[in-house]
Amino acid sequence: MAPKHQAPRGTRDLLPEELQRWQWIESRARGVLARYGYGEIRTPMFEDYELFARTSGESSDVVQKEMYRFKDLGDRDLALRPENTAGVCRAYLEHGLGGRARIHRLWYMGPMFRYGRPQKGRYRQFAQIGAEIIGTPAPGADVEMIALFVDLFAAWGFGDLAVLLNSVGTPATRRDYAAALRHWLEPVKEKLGADSRQRLETNPLRILDTKNPDELAILSGASGDLTTPMPHMLDFLDADSRAHWDAVRQGLDALGIGYEVDHGLVRGLDYYSRTAFEVHDRSLGAQSALGGGGRYDGLIEALGGSPTPGVGFSIGLDRVALVLEQRGEGVPAPEPSVFIAAMDSTRDAAAALARELRREFTVELDVEARGFGAQMKAAGKSGARLLVILGEEEWTRGEVALKQLTTGEQRLVTRDALAAELRGALGR
Ligand code: HAM
Repeated sequence: MAPKHQAPRGTRDLLPEELQRWQWIESRARGVLARYGYGEIRTPMFEDYELFARTSGESSDVVQKEMYRFKDLGDRDLALRPENTAGVCRAYLEHGLGGRARIHRLWYMGPMFRYGRPQKGRYRQFAQIGAEIIGTPAPGADVEMIALFVDLFAAWGFGDLAVLLNSVGTPATRRDYAAALRHWLEPVKEKLGADSRQRLETNPLRILDTKNPDELAILSGASGDLTTPMPHMLDFLDADSRAHWDAVRQGLDALGIGYEVDHGLVRGLDYYSRTAFEVHDRSLGAQSALGGGGRYDGLIEALGGSPTPGVGFSIGLDRVALVLEQRGEGVPAPEPSVFIAAMDSTRDAAAALARELRREFTVELDVEARGFGAQMKAAGKSGARLLVILGEEEWTRGEVALKQLTTGEQRLVTRDALAAELRGALGR
């Protein structure tokens, strides 16, 4: 019979076995972030709808099509967060962090919500880990961010990543570039899909984000529809943005961080300025972006703060876990465990002993008061490395049997020496 309830479309349950990989991913990341000197921040999973509309951009897919927007019982207009940069900046302002220190290095991890069409690597609830440096326009901050981004992936065993890099300049750059793109695409207007035709009017940069193969062929020149090559945003940068771009590239070169300039990289959110970056893994298919980020110098001002530049990124943990799973990586070796088996008369003693040993060891114990044979079977199945048997007579003498389940070797040890014996047998 089919169960009455299923997890809502686009959401998933993560069961213990899969969570081992997630915990490994998280603990690796925490180590890297701590060594880079970032402090964790936790903000609410929902915020005022306006916060996202104002920052992600009214014309972005995230706001137009993907928002979990709702009214609460107090008639407040709220939304489940589709991303967390806006929330972090809201918190930065709300707590006056700018008055406490000039530069803040923050990171976060948690669920985000976007109402997209679910497919491999794309969910309606997904998790991100992200980092932000708020308070400096210096290109060195962009370089540190990209280094941290790459080093997180390295800690997860991705040694071979190419970072895609572009500059999206300032709002003025993008206005000029949008006009140039519009002009360039005018002759093929009728060949574009309905979405892109609409975007040609509202925000032509978004057309560069298309996944439609026919449109991709037009953009790359492969279809032969356009005879002049696509204009590049980099050619529209003002002098300051150009100098910033050069300095970021130089900083990455100095660190030996590989990148490819991607003229089509525009990012899906509207708050970016200057540096934009992403990494992809083709094994994921259509949803190949593992993470992305960039600079957002106007965001805090748009939220009513004084001009405060920032730069950051987010990484999709579901996608990282998927790639590691495909590669069979990222599962930590399980902690070797001890199984305690008891007779009817030593059951209570076994429970007390298990509780005591669990201060130090991973201990399994039958809680169903089953017979000795059933406990032996369970011990065999459990994958435990050691078996401790509380026989009635031995226990009365202050002894237990200690068996190596891998070799079958068994001997008596005293109750008092048990912890030391277990340590020795587990090679600690
Ligand atoms: P984003 O590119 O929208 O950037 O998302 C970052 C990553 O989240 C994506 O590369 C992808 O791995 C993952 N992701 C996004 N949507 C989904 C989904 N529906 N299912 C699974 N994974 C998904 C941001 O969110 C910005 N806040 C990054 C940033 C931080 N920029 C500056 N600071």
